[in-house]
Amino acid sequence: MYPELEKLYALCFPDKQHKWTAKDFADLKQSGCDIIVGQTGFVVWRNTLDDTEIISIGVVPDARRTGTASAMIQMVKQDAKQNGVKNILLEVDEHNTPAIELYKKCGFTNVGMRPHYYENGHNAIIMKTAI
Ligand SMILES: CC(C)(COP(=O)(O)OP(=O)(O)OC[C@H]1O[C@@H](n2cnc3c(N)ncnc32)[C@H](O)[C@@H]1OP(=O)(O)O)[C@@H](O)C(=O)NCCC(=O)NCCS
Repeated sequence: MYPELEKLYALCFPDKQHKWTAKDFADLKQSGCDIIVGQTGFVVWRNTLDDTEIISIGVVPDARRTGTASAMIQMVKQDAKQNGVKNILLEVDEHNTPAIELYKKCGFTNVGMRPHYYENGHNAIIMKTAI
């Protein structure tokens, strides 16, 4: 599963300088994250006592706009609910319109901002949805 994730990550995030490797994904799993990986996409999230954080989500370019990411977010919501979590949080690059639109469609709203959060200097928007 980890080599698959490394390949998917490179396809989903071609512009990132630091691309996550199979070892990065294995370390995330080891540290308590959950991961869904399919043929065309993946999502990594972490449940804590009160909140769930979506750490990363990606769908390969050829498979976009077919509802894959929305379906994966639904699965994360189900898991969060089963774990008694109240909120799901995530960070997104303020210029990443596809992701922001996806999250809005899935019920997330803006709740904050982290200045110059990304390696490209862009700000991160913090988004949240209640379960
Ligand atoms: C963001 C991303 C995960 C969306 O995946 P997806 O499977 O295409 O998303 P969905 O098909 O579930 O789209 C759901 C909704 O999101 C919005 N959306 C998705 N892509 C969009 C785009 N390019 N422009 C505008 N809105 C978009 C639409 O509202 C869409 O609903 P619609 O198709 O009925 O109009 C995908 O574009 C991706 O992997 N991008 C690169 C990696 C990335 O930026 N990850 C997020 C990091 S925070």
